[in-house]
Amino acid sequence: MIASASAPGKVILCGEHAVVYGQPAIALPLSDVRAVAQVEGAPPSMGIEVVAPDVSEQWQLTPEQQHPLALLIRLTLARLAVAPLPDLHISLRSAIPIASGMGSGAAIGAALVKALAAYFGAQLPPAEVSQLVYESERGFHGTPSGIDNSVVSYEQAMWFVRGAALTGQTTPPVIEPVTVGVPFSLVIGDTGVRAPTRVTVARVRERWEAEKELYSTWFAEIGRLATQAREALLQGDVALLGTALNRNQKLLQQLGVSSPELERLIVAARSSGALGAKLSGGGGGGIMLALVDDVARPLVARALHDAGATRVIETVVH
Ligand code: MEV
Repeated sequence: MIASASAPGKVILCGEHAVVYGQPAIALPLSDVRAVAQVEGAPPSMGIEVVAPDVSEQWQLTPEQQHPLALLIRLTLARLAVAPLPDLHISLRSAIPIASGMGSGAAIGAALVKALAAYFGAQLPPAEVSQLVYESERGFHGTPSGIDNSVVSYEQAMWFVRGAALTGQTTPPVIEPVTVGVPFSLVIGDTGVRAPTRVTVARVRERWEAEKELYSTWFAEIGRLATQAREALLQGDVALLGTALNRNQKLLQQLGVSSPELERLIVAARSSGALGAKLSGGGGGGIMLALVDDVARPLVARALHDAGATRVIETVVH
């Protein structure tokens, strides 16, 4: 028996980094760019072998194995009440570039949880898939807000506010569907510069520790822009959405998470007709996104290629 499952990449439309500090953010799944996990039985006493050819990884699950996915496999098998550990061959493939701001780690995790559940004849609701991925990433990634694991598990455009930690307990996040009044198009450009999210999140935390009042004001301003973006999406007001995205980018620059490569792509997009453009995800490299109408769409896509984007993805959000 072979079971397989997949999960999408994601973009953060508005609110990254501030979301770590309790502000709202809007995330969108990228359904055409996916991670796929396949689980099949292995001969007796083979244990659990994981193969991820895209990143040239191959390892055996051992009690000492510290990989986040090793923890995720253990957590998922415990949740499915599978004991003792079975003999499995797990293969992981992903079309989502790693450390690009597109949620590759979370998508691989969600695909893996769903494939394991399917192999053992169970179906886990998105909230449980998301929680398992969050648990496995928390120890390795510092202080994730939980937005990445949520959007790839629910696979819907979402308004997200992180859960609070209260006296040792964690309350669940607020997750609401975002209503998109009129479909709109995004062109996504990849700088090709790999920048792990935990690095930029840690950098912002250091700066926030040093200047809490200033950074909290900027986070709150980003939160207000997320509210404005949600309203613009509901009304189908792309001009207002574009303005919110541009102002969000200015604040992300101030937080210190933009980069020369990101700026080059953002300037190229704006000067070829984008209604708004900003980095998306952790920043420091990775991807940017541009809001476009039908006329600007091909022009912006070309301009991003010409400005050095290693990959350009066009998507329509409904
Ligand atoms: C990463 O996609 C989004 C960040 O806000 C980190 C997080 O929310 O955990 C940069």
